[in-house]
Amino acid sequence: MEDKIRLCSVDDVAEGFPCAVNPVGFIALAVFRVANEVFVTGNLCTHGNALLSDGYQEGDVIECPLHGGAFCIRSGEPVSLPCSERIPTYEPILENGQVFIRRARAQRVDEND
Ligand code: FES
Repeated sequence: MEDKIRLCSVDDVAEGFPCAVNPVGFIALAVFRVANEVFVTGNLCTHGNALLSDGYQEGDVIECPLHGGAFCIRSGEPVSLPCSERIPTYEPILENGQVFIRRARAQRVDEND
């Protein structure tokens, strides 16, 4: 089995326009661009049922579209209430213009229950 999961192309992601990715069997992920850097986080807000990829990105901060809480894209730490729990972050692997994460680090859906 491949040790990496392909998420998207680097070109699919522009700053301010995160890419939502739903790898089969794994939690929903969001891929962000900040200048020339790429970041991967969980896509579900830890405060409620909202996708961060639908939110508003300002530099390395993503604001949730539902209640306006926010997270640092680099660390996953909450930076604005009502969010108080971090979102998972994943080291992106960039190869041939594609974004991957390590399969061993990805969180399966059933681990999230
Ligand atoms: Fe994200 Fe409430 S659901 S801040």
